[in-house]
Amino acid sequence: MYNICVAGTGYVGLVTGACLADFGNVVRCVDIDESKISSLENSEVPFYEPGLQEIVKRNVERGRLSFSTDVNTGIEESTVIFVAVGTPMSDEGQADLSYVEMVAKSVGEHLNGYKIVVMKSTVPAGTCDLVQGIIEITSTSGHDFDVVSNPEFLREGSAIEDFMKPDRIVLGASTERALKVMTEIYRPLILENTPVVDTDVKTSEMIKYASNAFLATKISFINEIASICERIHADVSVVSRAMGLDERIGPKFLRAGAGYGGSCFPKDTRALVKTAEAAGYDLRIVKAAITVNDEQRRNMVAKIDEAMGGVKGKTIAILGFAFKPDTDDLREAPAIDMAKDLQRMGAALTGYDPVAMEEAKTFVKDVTFCEDVFEAVKGADAAVFVTEWNEFRDLDLDKIKSLMKSPVLIDCRNIYEPPRMKELGFEYFSVGRRPREG
Ligand code: UGA
Repeated sequence: MYNICVAGTGYVGLVTGACLADFGNVVRCVDIDESKISSLENSEVPFYEPGLQEIVKRNVERGRLSFSTDVNTGIEESTVIFVAVGTPMSDEGQADLSYVEMVAKSVGEHLNGYKIVVMKSTVPAGTCDLVQGIIEITSTSGHDFDVVSNPEFLREGSAIEDFMKPDRIVLGASTERALKVMTEIYRPLILENTPVVDTDVKTSEMIKYASNAFLATKISFINEIASICERIHADVSVVSRAMGLDERIGPKFLRAGAGYGGSCFPKDTRALVKTAEAAGYDLRIVKAAITVNDEQRRNMVAKIDEAMGGVKGKTIAILGFAFKPDTDDLREAPAIDMAKDLQRMGAALTGYDPVAMEEAKTFVKDVTFCEDVFEAVKGADAAVFVTEWNEFRDLDLDKIKSLMKSPVLIDCRNIYEPPRMKELGFEYFSVGRRPREG
C-alpha cells in the first residue's frame, strides 16, 4: 500500500486515482480547478465515463480516495506522485507543458522525503528530463527522487476496463528503486499476467506517441482505401474484415468512417510531427495520416451535398455529435466541423446525441436539438449518422422513413447494411461501400 497523489482530475487522472485506490492504496487526487474538486467531493464525476462514478463512490466511502485543491499538501503526504495534468496543443502544434512544469516545481518545493514522480500525461520525449531538471533546481531539501515515465493507453468510454485489463504496462525508469515501487503498485495487474515493458525514460515516452500515431495512421489508411472502394465499386467493410483476419494486421482500428477525433489522436499526431521536426526529421507518414483525417470530414460533407443534390435551404438531422460512442467529449469531433460546414452551405440543422447534447450546444449554434432520433428526423430532407451510438444500431427505420420529408440517409459510420436500406426504400449512402444499384 502506498500513499499516492494524482495531480490532475481529467480522464486519465481520475481513472488512475480511482483504480489505484481500488487496489488498496491511499490516493489523494488534486486539481487547481475548484469546481471540479467540489463536485468530486460529492462523488460526482464531472464527465461521462461508464463505471467511473461507482468506483469513485466506493473508494471515497472506504476512505481510500479523497480530493483536494491543495496540491502541496497532496505532494507532501505522498511517496508517489502521478502527473496526469493536461498537455493541450499550443498554437504551434506542440504539447503545452506549463501544467506539468507547475507540478514539477511544487514537487521540488515540497520534497520532504524520497518521492517518485510518475508521468502519466502524454508528453513528448525529453519531458521527464525536463521535470527532473526542474525538481533539482527548486528542491533544497537534499532528498532523493526519481522521475518515471508510465504512459496510459486507456480509451474514453472504456477507461476502467482499459486500466484494469491493459495490454501492457510500460515503465520507463532510471533506477532500480523506482522500478521496484512501480512494480509493486501494479502488482494486482502483473499477477493477472499483464506484460511489463521495462525500459528507459525516453523510449517509454516514445512508445505512447508511436502507438497513438500508428492507430491514427491505421484509421486514415482504411479511410483512403474506402475512398478507392467507392470509386471502383468495392466494399471496404469486407476489405477491412479480410485484412483484419491476417494476424499480422489485426482487425482493430480498421473501421472506415468520418475519421478520428478526440483529445488524443489529433493532438498527439501533431506533437509527434513537431518532435520529429525538432530532431531534424520529416515524419511523412504521420503527416499524411493527419491530412487524410482532416479531409475525411470534408469528404463526408461533400457526400451529403451530393446525396441531397445540394444542401442549401434543406433541413438535415445530425445524429451523434460525440467524437465516438460512450463519451460526452466533443473535442475535435467530426460532427462539429461537419455541422458548421453544412450551416455555411445554407442547410438548417436539427440534432440529437444520447449523451453529448448539452456539450454540443456550446460548440455549434443554431441547431435545433431534439429529445430523440424521431423528433430530430421529423420533416428532415436527410439524416446523417456521425457517431455509431448503440441506440442508433437498431432503430425503427420504417418510423424514421415515415417521419422524414425525403428518405435520404447518409451513414458516416457504416452502421447499416446497404441491401437492407434499399429494401426499406431509403436512398442510402455510406463510406467505402457499393453505392445504390439502379
Ligand atoms: C486513444 C487511444 O485509443 C488510447 O489507447 C489512448 O490512451 C488515448 O487515445 C490517449 O492517448 O489518451 P481515445 O481517443 O479515447 O483513445 O479513443 P479511440 O477509441 O482510440 O478513438 C479515437 C478516434 O478514432 C474516434 O474518433 C473513433 O471514432 C476513431 N476510430 C477508431 C475510427 O474512426 N475507426 C476505428 O476503426 C477506430
